[in-house]
Amino acid sequence: MEDDPIYLAAIKRFDQVIKDAQTLGLKEPTAVALATVSAEGRPSVRIVLMRGHDARGPVFYTNSQSRKGRELAANPQAALCFYWDPAGLQVRIEGRVEPVEAQQSDLYWSTRPRESQIAAWASQQSQPMQDDAELKQQFEAYQHEFSDQIITRPIHWYGYRLLPDRIEFWTSRPARLHERTLYERSPAGWTVARLQP
Ligand SMILES: Cc1cc2nc3c(=O)[nH]c(=O)nc-3n(C[C@H](O)[C@H](O)[C@H](O)COP(=O)(O)O)c2cc1C
Repeated sequence: MEDDPIYLAAIKRFDQVIKDAQTLGLKEPTAVALATVSAEGRPSVRIVLMRGHDARGPVFYTNSQSRKGRELAANPQAALCFYWDPAGLQVRIEGRVEPVEAQQSDLYWSTRPRESQIAAWASQQSQPMQDDAELKQQFEAYQHEFSDQIITRPIHWYGYRLLPDRIEFWTSRPARLHERTLYERSPAGWTVARLQP
């Protein structure tokens, strides 16, 4: 875990931004664009939910066999971009991605509604399907298989932690003189710099 004071200042600011975002009355205050890159260098982006963060970095959960999961397996670098319109705030975080500890994924899995757990088994995320009936049939098959048992976490469904090496805060200001503050890891340690808007 990073203990550089500049990094810790960035994490503290991020933590406060998330706390503030949670007071805005948004349906999904931790929704974030996640960009990954294929082995061939082609970028792709989609929204996920950040389901926790600490001094090691933000965590999201997904199916590791999905497009994003396959891209992260081939190239474990990612970028996140949050935007909260009512607060006029953007946060960008970049870095290497690693799976979270199995125990942490199990813990989060156990808090998921039963229907979401069944859906995670039923959906081969990012694979083509015939029609809705096919998905419904898969869902019902797992519903039947698990009956009233505890539903275990699929081995291919887990959390990823992004280990930040670059964190940028952007705050909207009048006349487009926005504030940009970049925290970045260099070989000598973390640096902080203001960027022109
Ligand atoms: C608000 C919102 C939240 C989402 N949260 C997640 C999530 O936490 N995990 C996930 O795998 N997909 C989530 N999705 C779906 C993804 O955007 C995407 O469709 C899916 O993960 C497949 O992406 P891929 O084919 O690039 O792997 C969310 C979509 C929206 C609009």
